[in-house]
Amino acid sequence: MKLGRLNHVGVATPSIENAIAFYRDVMGAEVIRAPFDLPKQGVKVCFVETPPSTGSGQGTQIELIEPLGESSPIHGFLAKNPAGGQHHVCYEVPDIHEAKAWFEGRGCKVLGEPRIGAHGTPIFFVHPKDMGGVLTEIMETPRNH
Ligand code: CO
Repeated sequence: MKLGRLNHVGVATPSIENAIAFYRDVMGAEVIRAPFDLPKQGVKVCFVETPPSTGSGQGTQIELIEPLGESSPIHGFLAKNPAGGQHHVCYEVPDIHEAKAWFEGRGCKVLGEPRIGAHGTPIFFVHPKDMGGVLTEIMETPRNH
């Protein structure tokens, strides 16, 4: 199996509103999808995109994540990183089940079953202890994407 390109970097923040202002004013990013709630995952999410380098045509997506609800998995992260910080990276794959079997076959702990992620396609996370300390999201991306 080949991993695809990096789709986005996930950044946890205590305030999506403040984070959007930072990415707009300092990084020159645009909101490409307005903030929305993902109640099942206990997060509020907003995608911003930094501008493309000259000629490359494609910017870079940052997923801003704010805790939603008392049991949000992001609370623990923000307790350790009160100002927010880098939370995960996300790579694209053509087939989520093939990818799950690949990582499990190499002894990497996949967290839960594939589920629909913030982009509306199947995702899963791999435990950072098996990924060099990086919480890693794997996201199925249709080939015609
Ligand atoms: Co993500």
